[in-house]
Amino acid sequence: MVTRLANGKTFTIDYREKAPQLATATMFLDESGKIDPEKESRGWLTVGVPGSPLGLWTAHQKSGKLPWKRLVQPAIELAEQGFTVDQFIHQSMKTHQRYFIKYGEAANVYLHSGKAPAVGSTLKLPDLAETLKRIRDQGADGFYHGKTAELLEQAMIKHGGLVRQQDLAQYHVVLREPVIGQYKGHQIISMGPPSSGGVLIVQMLNILQGFEQKEFDRASPRYWHLLAETMKRAYLDRARHLGDPDFNKIPLDKLLSSKHADELRATISDRATSSATLGSDILSPEKTKESEQTTHYSIIDDEGNMVSVTTTLEDSCGSCCVAPGLGFLLNNEMHDFNVSPGLTNTTGRIGTPPNLIVPGKRMLSSMTPTLIVKDNKPFLIVGSPGGRTIPNTVLQIILNVIDHKMPIDEAVAAARMHHQWMPDQIGIESKVPRDIIDGLRAFGHDVKPRGNQGDGHSILIDWSSGRRYLPGTDRRLRGASAGY
Ligand code: DON
Repeated sequence: MVTRLANGKTFTIDYREKAPQLATATMFLDESGKIDPEKESRGWLTVGVPGSPLGLWTAHQKSGKLPWKRLVQPAIELAEQGFTVDQFIHQSMKTHQRYFIKYGEAANVYLHSGKAPAVGSTLKLPDLAETLKRIRDQGADGFYHGKTAELLEQAMIKHGGLVRQQDLAQYHVVLREPVIGQYKGHQIISMGPPSSGGVLIVQMLNILQGFEQKEFDRASPRYWHLLAETMKRAYLDRARHLGDPDFNKIPLDKLLSSKHADELRATISDRATSSATLGSDILSPEKTKESEQTTHYSIIDDEGNMVSVTTTLEDSCGSCCVAPGLGFLLNNEMHDFNVSPGLTNTTGRIGTPPNLIVPGKRMLSSMTPTLIVKDNKPFLIVGSPGGRTIPNTVLQIILNVIDHKMPIDEAVAAARMHHQWMPDQIGIESKVPRDIIDGLRAFGHDVKPRGNQGDGHSILIDWSSGRRYLPGTDRRLRGASAGY
């Protein structure tokens, strides 16, 4: 959560999950040292010590105005009274039903007679309502201590999971300074490690800032080429250096410096540089999959307090595990660690030290909740889901607003691309015109048209006549904008 108060004060709340004390660096490998694809991505072992309840409680304690109970109550009512299952929820439940059944309680909570609830039926979550009542009445303690913690530990022990009551009792959030950058007269305020998002955004903007303005032409394949080359260099630095700052010495000053950006820019030519050549020092002599279901929301109030929040269970439906009596899906955030020590390969798997599993460590994220200020006044609130594509989605919305002068809804709707160093491939939304794709191939890029990238709900603050909040509602999934 990245916040800028109306008085100009900025802070971030890091409520990223942590590895439990029983976790080990090789916990997802089998005896022969190979990764078991299901073990690393679903099931009880993938659950990190949850952070959201304490994160939201901390935000409330620090700057909330309304009573906590009033904030939690609507969620309790929704869980108790239930909500209508739409096509999206139905499909999601259907996709995951075999895991829900395999991992036990989730099938009782989210399925109707072992099947995804039908479109139009009502899904009630009474156990979740009870959990939320404990949080309503006791604050974060209602989650990290007492009945919720006891039920969670019982389920973990029964199913071979690692989270214990002690992990919950010891969980803490950290108030961290945001990562700050400057881009063409705008101040960029974003999330620092353990998220890679803010560092990537500032680093990529620093590189791009050195190109002449005439290069910023969305109709020209060269613009997309420069973007891809910028992305690959920044993502290589992510693989080399980024992880939990409480466990690593991260060279932030260097990574965020214009000198470093100048050096990287100087290596960009008129041909695609091979990712393997760029990062040969960390590359090992297989495909990792990361899905793209997370939630981003951008908020501003009438006083000008701005908040950008990205929140995730990691995969859609997280670990697919529910502890009996608690009613909510547990995350599979352990999957965001580098689970294969030493193995960094051309498919995108990273095995470098900064993000290996260590008890109590937070896993590296790509979430990029970002605020932009111009002339000391709120200008833009932005962020997105999308796993490793997130920083690139946020980058392109920012460029569309600042360089391409698009209205916010167009800036959010415009086609996007993604390069993450490895695999050495551009993923590009298929609505990008054909000549851009052909042009990129002529530069030497491997280009793969893809479906939607991200879901970047944004707010632009327009000061041209008074102060107006303009929603950038992303229509790619199901989000919406609202004013109260
Ligand atoms: O923290 C991260 O970067 C990932 N756990 C986010 C996963 C994600 O965005 C999936 N979907 N949209």
